[in-house]
Amino acid sequence: MRRRLFLQLSGMSICSGLIAGVNADTTSTKSFSITTKKGEVNLVGPDFPATKVWGFNGQVPGTPIRVSLGETINAEIHNALEVPTAVHWHGIRLPNAMDGVAGLTQPPINPGNSFLYQFTPPDSGTYWYHSHVNAYEQIGRGLYGPLIIDEADPPVVDRDLIWMIDDWRLLDNASISDDFGSGHDRSHAGRIGNVPTVNGRFRDIVKVRTGERIRLRLINASNARNFSLSFGDLNASVIAIDGQAIKPYTTNKPITIGAAGRVDLILDMTGEPGSIAPVVDSFYRESFHLTKFVYDKVPLRESSLTDSIALAPSTIPEPEISNAKNYDITIAGGAMGGLRRAQLDGEWMGLREIAQQGYVWAINDVVGNKLDMPPLIDTKVGNSVRLTIRNETAFPHPMHLHGHHMKLLSIDGNALSEQNWVDSPLVMPNQTVELAFVADNPGNWLFHCHALEHHAAGLGALVRIT
Ligand code: C2O
Ligand code: CU
Repeated sequence: MRRRLFLQLSGMSICSGLIAGVNADTTSTKSFSITTKKGEVNLVGPDFPATKVWGFNGQVPGTPIRVSLGETINAEIHNALEVPTAVHWHGIRLPNAMDGVAGLTQPPINPGNSFLYQFTPPDSGTYWYHSHVNAYEQIGRGLYGPLIIDEADPPVVDRDLIWMIDDWRLLDNASISDDFGSGHDRSHAGRIGNVPTVNGRFRDIVKVRTGERIRLRLINASNARNFSLSFGDLNASVIAIDGQAIKPYTTNKPITIGAAGRVDLILDMTGEPGSIAPVVDSFYRESFHLTKFVYDKVPLRESSLTDSIALAPSTIPEPEISNAKNYDITIAGGAMGGLRRAQLDGEWMGLREIAQQGYVWAINDVVGNKLDMPPLIDTKVGNSVRLTIRNETAFPHPMHLHGHHMKLLSIDGNALSEQNWVDSPLVMPNQTVELAFVADNPGNWLFHCHALEHHAAGLGALVRIT
């Protein structure tokens, strides 16, 4: 049934779904007043009814929050839903009390109540904000939006586009399937949907012009779906990962973006005027077209721009690898995994007993089911920390650390020549990755899989920095 909906819709194309960049003014604080509420969004086009969603200001994606580096964000969140919520600012190195994890860093925002988030992002780049209460349901219903911190001196482009990518599980009447947190999704790949959207539109088109230079900010807001996107004959230049500048590289290979990840690209639109070029995903066995570029008949310019595309380097403090304490972190469990027993609430139990309570994953044999459990890592402010994460499961896990960025040092023992900052590295089955960071941000921070059903099923832990 799900497959059918997906395929039925193949011929559709509608107007373009671009989100225009709003440039910040020069005041030092920008205020946003945002209400979490129900809304209706036509995800799959005019042949289907609108989908009932939960959104920031009732929209999907939610109202863009965009400021210049150095500006303070004042975001008043008013909760007009019938359930508690809280807002996490994914990837921002902010004070712990603003991190939005209900039950850990703040009480939930109850229906009818408000909470004022106030912070000054220390890094420019592409981020997002989302609910952090029952996230697999609240994000799954649409509670997310883009969060962009503009560089003082961005590369020259013709357009700056945001593609917030999501993956919905819809029924044939385009309503959201309400089987959130199902046993199968918890123990397998997470909630994989059947309607992938860009900016809340299924199989939309993006109008472009030959010769145009586009900065494309990809944000993966899916509950669990990872993407590997190909841009046809175009070369894509990757300039940032998870918000942070990298040394640009140009590729025609698919660009992988795990759940919660961000990738900033520079695309020079070199297709023929009047041509159409699909953007294709190939992460899973079946590939599909996510959206497509439709070229105007009139080119913008003869040949592409040649200005530099590099962003100013990130200013995140460098970990001292030689002095870093190493933590070996083994992820185990799930379907087709080898986990036999683990500790739940401090007690060893067999997997079957654990699964009866809805949990199937463990980190270092501990099920991460509580926000007040003993920390996986307990360290002092300023210490360098090294993580060696081994994925002993049959599924990929995008592992997100709150409040910090980590330097990706190696994959499967091979040191990377470019060691980039990440906040949500996708760790593939049987892979081992090494990361390091300076624990410079005091507080209790979540470290969890961003396949949201995995987190709900125990794939999470705490990092305590005092
Ligand atoms: Cu994107 Cu714990 O969050
Ligand atoms: Cu996971």
